[in-house]
Amino acid sequence: MKFETTLIHGGKTTDPLTKAVNVPIYQTSTYKQSELFQNVEYEYSRTKNPTRTAVETLIAELEGGVEGFAFASGMAAISTVLALFKQGDHVLISDNLYGGTFRVLDKVFANFGIGYTMVDTTDVTLVEMALDRSVVAIIIESPTNPLLAISDIEAISTLARNENIISIVDNTFMTPFFQKPLKLKADIVIHSATKYLGGHSDLIAGLVVVNDEELARRIAFLQNAIGAVLGPMDSFLLVRGIKTLALRMERHQQNALALVEKLSSLPQVQRVYHPSLPNHKNHSLALSQASGHVSLISFELQPEANLNKFFRSLNIIALAESLGGVESLICHPASMTHASYPKEIRDSVGITDHLIRLSVGIEDMDDLWSDLNGAIQEAFR
Ligand SMILES: Cc1ncc(COP(=O)(O)O)c(C=O)c1O
Repeated sequence: MKFETTLIHGGKTTDPLTKAVNVPIYQTSTYKQSELFQNVEYEYSRTKNPTRTAVETLIAELEGGVEGFAFASGMAAISTVLALFKQGDHVLISDNLYGGTFRVLDKVFANFGIGYTMVDTTDVTLVEMALDRSVVAIIIESPTNPLLAISDIEAISTLARNENIISIVDNTFMTPFFQKPLKLKADIVIHSATKYLGGHSDLIAGLVVVNDEELARRIAFLQNAIGAVLGPMDSFLLVRGIKTLALRMERHQQNALALVEKLSSLPQVQRVYHPSLPNHKNHSLALSQASGHVSLISFELQPEANLNKFFRSLNIIALAESLGGVESLICHPASMTHASYPKEIRDSVGITDHLIRLSVGIEDMDDLWSDLNGAIQEAFR
């Protein structure tokens, strides 16, 4: 099956009981057993639920992995993966990861003796130099949030594999429609499925896919032991959202590329961050490991802009956390998504107080541009 067909027919997404074309919402916590000592597939919904199985088998097929796991949020997925590690272990992370990933390492897992080092993972040599015997994993986002820097997934994963280190890629921004990290030798893929996979800003969910049976066994154990699982209703919504992923991602990209061009030509815009731009540091790498471009755009207005006036003047594009929904959303990373980073770190990696991150939706392009351009003009009036 081609990817677009797998989106609709992949995984165990037909109901085995009734042959309904959609697995129903199995809203049950437990399952009746007929006798003792039987090996039943479903016994308790924290461990396994058929609606969750539908989304887990689907994402495993889409990412090309051996097994998928669904969690109550992207952070629940990330935290469960981090629970693979123990006191004394050390994790390398990209230097502008989503703030929540940084926060859980800095404020939660650090208390259990798991350390982290931030590295500019766009430079493989720096990653190599940061490896020492305590490093057990490398976590990258490519593109990063919010500066859209690209790291060489295959080079980093190969380096990690040679050193027996687990490579973990947060593929939230690209989805398997554009990028498949397991095919680039990564060991674990993570998603905030809240974003493009769900696609409609109506659920919070996380997914993990692994490429190896032993890792699958360990994650399955942790998923059940920790219990931060995705409920049946949200599993159903996620399967439903994933069916239209291809259509949405194409349109997101088309709108984003058009807006990048328009924003880049405005004198009021000081800088645009997007991998499609020839002046982007990793421009040539971007499409060598992915089949499309990210639909987020980060940009800075000229310093004299009144940012509050800019955000207030938007009518269609909503000032809100999150991204990847059909509707365009805009945010101010320094005070919103990345507020959990200390200011010195934000400044050192380039998440300035002027930076704006736009998640381009699938609305009409002319409407989006007139909203955005109108608000930019207002910011300078
Ligand atoms: C790249 C990335 N990873 C993980 C997360 C966390 O996901 P969730 O909000 O579903 O817990 C986010 C949330 O914005 C994100 O942008």
